[in-house]
Amino acid sequence: MNYKAQFAEALQEHLAELSYDSIYQLIEQPKQLSHGDLAFPCFELAKIKRTSPMNIASELAGKVASDLFEKVEAVGPYVNVFLDKRKVGSKVIHDILQKKNHYGDSDRGKDGKVPIDMSSPNIAKPFSMGHLRSTVIGNSIALLLKKSGYQPIRINHLGDWGTQFGKLMVAYKKWGEENKVRQNPIEELLQLYILFHEEAETDPSLVEEGRAWFKRLEDGDTEAESLWKWFREESLKEFNKIYELLGIEFDSTHGEAFYNDKMEEVVKLLEEKSLLTESEGAQVVDLSEHDLPPSLIRKSDGATLYTTRDLAAALYRNRTYDFVRSLYVVGNEQGLHFKQLKLVLEKMGYAWAKDLHHVSFGMILKDGKKMSTRKGKVVLLEEVLREAIDLAKFNMEEKNPGLVDKEEAAKAVGVGAVLFHDLKNHRNNDVEFSLEDMLRIEGETGPYVQYTHARGCSLLEKGNFQAQEGLIDLEEDHTYAWSIISELLSFPNTVKRATEQFDPSIIAKYVVDLAQAFNRYYAHVRVLEDTSKRDHRLALVQAVVLVLEEGLRLLGMKAPKQM
Ligand code: ARG
Repeated sequence: MNYKAQFAEALQEHLAELSYDSIYQLIEQPKQLSHGDLAFPCFELAKIKRTSPMNIASELAGKVASDLFEKVEAVGPYVNVFLDKRKVGSKVIHDILQKKNHYGDSDRGKDGKVPIDMSSPNIAKPFSMGHLRSTVIGNSIALLLKKSGYQPIRINHLGDWGTQFGKLMVAYKKWGEENKVRQNPIEELLQLYILFHEEAETDPSLVEEGRAWFKRLEDGDTEAESLWKWFREESLKEFNKIYELLGIEFDSTHGEAFYNDKMEEVVKLLEEKSLLTESEGAQVVDLSEHDLPPSLIRKSDGATLYTTRDLAAALYRNRTYDFVRSLYVVGNEQGLHFKQLKLVLEKMGYAWAKDLHHVSFGMILKDGKKMSTRKGKVVLLEEVLREAIDLAKFNMEEKNPGLVDKEEAAKAVGVGAVLFHDLKNHRNNDVEFSLEDMLRIEGETGPYVQYTHARGCSLLEKGNFQAQEGLIDLEEDHTYAWSIISELLSFPNTVKRATEQFDPSIIAKYVVDLAQAFNRYYAHVRVLEDTSKRDHRLALVQAVVLVLEEGLRLLGMKAPKQM
């Protein structure tokens, strides 16, 4: 809770011996109500100052003050604070109504640049659930970083290079049809790729052919290059449909191919630093001192690898952005790769290697199993999103047939449900995929939070609330109102924690808690009834609406006014 910060600040003024952070850490919530809202134990200070904690407590209690505290008293070795709930409440509501969606903003990031490697699907392959997770987690982290004063840079590190493109070209030349690819690029190219592998089992010469085509591509052969370009374009068109549905844009779509002419330098640097050794004809960086397998830099046939491109990308990003942090939002299964990447850069002597961070996440499961195929067919993500939107629309038609902006609202709720479901658990957990669960109005779901927000909006409209200066004063010290207030107070610190831990689930849990507090209030207080208190109550509702909207925005979700 944030009034903890107020107390810590008030204490800090009289305590040179402890840092603000350690004071903050020490503050507790008393177990008994009679001991106030917050307590500061003086044992630690007593050790430093070599006097009794009781003395310190009573001395501090005489000094510490804030207009938000009703009373400060020493009880034994503790300094106890009783908050002036009316004042605290009015202050925070006033603050939110003033700052609106900027409530909780900070300049902590000092404009530091943070490239975020996210989404990064592979050309000519389906956009997987893993890529969805990377996209939505990465986007939410970008929004959080921005709110905290950093400059996020969303990078779609497309998988658009590698030997598989040689194979695809062979398959396309042998069995492909242009029309079919144009109509259904991902499906069609995937089928060609699968066919290639089936045929290659009996005809190994195909593999040789594939290699030759990839070599042609690397050497800049026109036919190979134009095929590659075409596959890339068609695939991107498909991916863009998903990004559009999600409402996500990138600052850079430099994929792996972009680093083609930048890998020679990496290999040279590694050579100069005598880090390359030979292993079975391939060139590797030995990492045995870290108990890790070697990092493969160049294959025996001279071809570079995924890691080589990531090394080039890391160097490029460092030069281009001079980042304070460089994030990679990629599944758990690539943990080893990123460990190796970081170690190799460290060995190369780059101090900034410590700023690379693998933001890992778990899998999406269907009935407990990894979700990649359905009846042998790929689950196309766009279909999943469209299904969610249709289901949301269906639910709305039942509940609210007169709704005006049904299409928009259904899109917000359908897509939001998928996003929220993905983000509500800590990213390292696996997630079970279930459209029905996601779209429930009760429980910890996106629609629940969105619905609560819409309810608040409708109250504001019915009550014809116009935010007015100085009008905000909390009606009586009401428990239901107070539990909303304490949630509202904690929002800035919640944003801070979520940003520092790259953990959007902290925000998802927060909006659920706030929505629940609000719904309890709504069940017990007739907001519109008593005209003398109405505007004060509506001010509280307005604050909740604003913070819910902002919380949802940080998750990449929309908050429709009606649904
Ligand atoms: N394209 C890769 C995949 O689908 C993910 C790329 C992650 N980013 C990176 N810089 N390695 O597995």
